[in-house]
Amino acid sequence: MATTTQRKVLITGGAGFIGSNFVHHWVKTYPQDRVVVLDALTYAGNRSNLADLESHPHLRFVKGDICDRPAIDYLLSEETIDTVVHFAAESHVDRSILGPDAFVRTNVVGTFTLLESFRQHWNSRRQPQDDRFLHVSTDEVYGTLGPADPAFSETTPYAPNSPYSASKAGSDHLVRSYFHTYGLPTLITNCSNNYGPYHFPEKLIPLMCINILMGKPLPVYGDGQNIRDWLYVGDHCSAIDRVIQRSQPGETYNIGGNNEVKNIDLVHMLCDLMDELAPHLPVRPAHNLITFVKDRPGHDRRYAIDASKIRDQLGWEPAVTVSEGLRQTVQWYLAHPDWWRPLLSPEYQEYYKAVYA
Ligand code: NAD
Ligand code: TYD
Repeated sequence: MATTTQRKVLITGGAGFIGSNFVHHWVKTYPQDRVVVLDALTYAGNRSNLADLESHPHLRFVKGDICDRPAIDYLLSEETIDTVVHFAAESHVDRSILGPDAFVRTNVVGTFTLLESFRQHWNSRRQPQDDRFLHVSTDEVYGTLGPADPAFSETTPYAPNSPYSASKAGSDHLVRSYFHTYGLPTLITNCSNNYGPYHFPEKLIPLMCINILMGKPLPVYGDGQNIRDWLYVGDHCSAIDRVIQRSQPGETYNIGGNNEVKNIDLVHMLCDLMDELAPHLPVRPAHNLITFVKDRPGHDRRYAIDASKIRDQLGWEPAVTVSEGLRQTVQWYLAHPDWWRPLLSPEYQEYYKAVYA
């Protein structure tokens, strides 16, 4: 498929962390495309993530829920959407442990609603070959790895261990079935842990950055030896772009950074960067704030992605190393207190107490 095809793209969850980075990526890369962002603005959604694009002539923001079938039917038809990039989800394992209901509703029922609506829309448009429905998923659907296990590939059996990953696995299965049953031109990407700008403060990297700046304890779960494969969010966006432009429908691709890091080592890297880059810190050296806390229930030990399929078939590779990406991320949090301070709301403090008290 030509990479120059002009598209009318619906981006769900485009006010969240990865979604908003993707909106920036798409608008910059394809300035002539129509981009419609659909986001319910839950606690994780933030309109200010898109503030610099408010007056962009081809961008429209719609506040709405992916479970609202009439609203989605209307939007797809009104905007003659040909490409859906589906980020909207409840995305945090710790929140899924506290309250799994919203995860089943948004991740399973919401994805189903979107698929049904897009199927009807695609049929009414006489099934154009270049239309795409790309479902953004996670490596967590594969479960956990032992120290010597090979990295997750696209053929690794699903074995989700948290309500979050189970609900994402359910949505992946639905998407897959719509390709096989109805021929809907779907794609699935399963990506490892992302980091970068606009990351909501409850996830590991932003939480540690913000706590260091505020002189608060840095809560490391369990023994801190759990391993994640970190990918800079801009690299995730370029991978999704590549899959939309180049992949055949029905494909699934794993996306990862080849950056396996133990949590405790990552926290030390963030402390060192803050010591170096932050002009004023309440506690220096920052690693004095590290505190081991009770482990997360069912905590997956290790994730690692084998990204050779997307590299070999589509020529995609990550461009940002973990040391460069963490430096840029720390600099971003240092430069944007006006972005993160308002997010430490009473609701956030309640959540924080529930997880860490
Ligand atoms: P996020 O929580 O930052 O953003 C989710 C967005 O979806 C928010 O803007 C929220 O308002 C919106 N949303 C939630 N429920 C909605 C609903 N019912 N209707 C419409 N919008 C709704 O999440 P994220 O980290 O940006 O993750 C985006 C996607 O990428 C998710 O599907 C997630 O599973 C997947 N993913 C995330 C990571 C990661 O490291 N963060 C890694 C791999 C895959
Ligand atoms: P997180 O950012 O929540 O992503 P995920 O659970 O989807 O991998 O957490 C990344 C890792 O960091 C995970 O192993 C849990 C751990 N962690 C902590 O040790 N302390 C914390 O306060 C948080 C939020 C996470």
